Amino acid sequence: MVRKRWIALAALGLGLAYAATHIGVDRQAMYATPAPSATAPMAFPKGFYWGAAIAAQQAESQQPTDWTAFELDAVKNQRFETGAAPGVAKPGHIHDLGASSATVRQQKTGFDQLMGQDMAMAQGMGLNAFRFSIEWARLFPKPGMKAPDPQGIAYYKRLLAEMKQRGITPFATLFHFSSPAWFFEADASGKRGWERADALAHWQQFVTAVAENFVPDIEQWCTLNEPMVYVYNGYMEGVFPPLERRGDVVLAAPVIEALLRAHVIGYQTLHRVADAKKASVNVGFTKHTRAFEPLRNWAPLDRLTAQAVDQAFNWDFNDAVASGRLKLTNTSIDKEIEGLKGSQDYVGINYYGRFYIKSDILNPTKPQVLQHDPDAPAEPVNDLGWAMYPHGFYQILSQAHKRYGKPIFVLENGTADKADNDVGRQKLLVSHVREMWLAMQQEKVDLRGYIHWSLFDNFEWAEGFTARFGLAKVDYENGFKRTERPSAAVYREIAKANALSPELAARLGAP
Ligand code: BGC
Repeated sequence: MVRKRWIALAALGLGLAYAATHIGVDRQAMYATPAPSATAPMAFPKGFYWGAAIAAQQAESQQPTDWTAFELDAVKNQRFETGAAPGVAKPGHIHDLGASSATVRQQKTGFDQLMGQDMAMAQGMGLNAFRFSIEWARLFPKPGMKAPDPQGIAYYKRLLAEMKQRGITPFATLFHFSSPAWFFEADASGKRGWERADALAHWQQFVTAVAENFVPDIEQWCTLNEPMVYVYNGYMEGVFPPLERRGDVVLAAPVIEALLRAHVIGYQTLHRVADAKKASVNVGFTKHTRAFEPLRNWAPLDRLTAQAVDQAFNWDFNDAVASGRLKLTNTSIDKEIEGLKGSQDYVGINYYGRFYIKSDILNPTKPQVLQHDPDAPAEPVNDLGWAMYPHGFYQILSQAHKRYGKPIFVLENGTADKADNDVGRQKLLVSHVREMWLAMQQEKVDLRGYIHWSLFDNFEWAEGFTARFGLAKVDYENGFKRTERPSAAVYREIAKANALSPELAARLGAP
């Protein structure tokens, strides 16, 4: 009894000592990386890419994909609710989709018709890069096709021609969350999507068709967009197709493994076809990253859990590609994957701010993930309640550089700000460009380009059309008319100078 009491007291003492060293960290004071105010322009290397992005399902007309099936079903069954808080989607629902007309739901942003005008707008912003995705279901809308639909190929050739005449470099993504609806029909053993026995054979056919048709016109390739977001949202949270809630990441591991194998196929196929054509390709994938912080600095479990979530969400997939072994944090999964080791020419980073981790001692594997700190009302958040955190971008870029030592492309960074005078987006842009420059100067991060999400408002997945990420506003019910927001002028100034001016940094670099 006495012994137990001593142990309890010792634990309490240790806990208090630990707490004392971790309380009082002023998070908001560390909003941006401290550095003396710039007096000269923060210049980027010659040839740096400044771009903007979209993805097929979000901007192009609906193709027969798993997402299209979900959208049609949500409309049919009127599943339009949002989750408990803004930016937290409700499983099986698409926020407010019923408020949009059938034309908007089908045409999304009118990009199929407006692509020429959109590329002219990007050029006018001084951009030299544009990221888009090639919709698998546009090339292979039906199962069993022996060759891609020529109209699908022609569509992307048209887009490439619009870019080429304006000196815009294409950055193409092969899998940006959507795949053909037929891919999700069950095979003989009842498996669907990436778990089908023939999944990778179908993927191989798609990737080969893409490589044969678009190399060498496209040199910059991203095989997978945000594989962990796809897995968590589709297989754990039920907010993306296939709308499953498996409850434990171990049960979703076969999907992660298939995606790693799909990446290898993409990497090897693009390089093989490029070699045969004596062309060059630069191939990687991109990861959604966030800064994860303990909600309560004094709580050791919050701190430990935040570290584990950071490793699992931000780095497990990248570590697997670097080492050739799939290891999932806090599981016993450890498996070699053939051809995986080192199969990336660059590291792709998408960065969207800070999440807070609140652990529960009774349920340590199921922490709460909060989009902002509820006790910090002054914390800058976007329309979805996501905490903005430029310094975290510096940390992620530095870590990615230290871990992998490869060139880095930022393939997405942006914010939901629907205001016509989008001060939030202007600040995000300037503060994050400043962090990139500092990371290049101070940590020698080998950064090659920055692609903003997004060129214009588009369909924001389970948030529907409500969240607006565009440098340009889209007037959906008025012929999809584009109007550049003030952030577009800020971006133009940066891209044209290939530098961030001290004046812009001083005016817009702080919260
Ligand atoms: C995705 C985009 C998405 C953006 C904003 C990323 O997770 O790749 O498709 O629109 O973030 O949420």
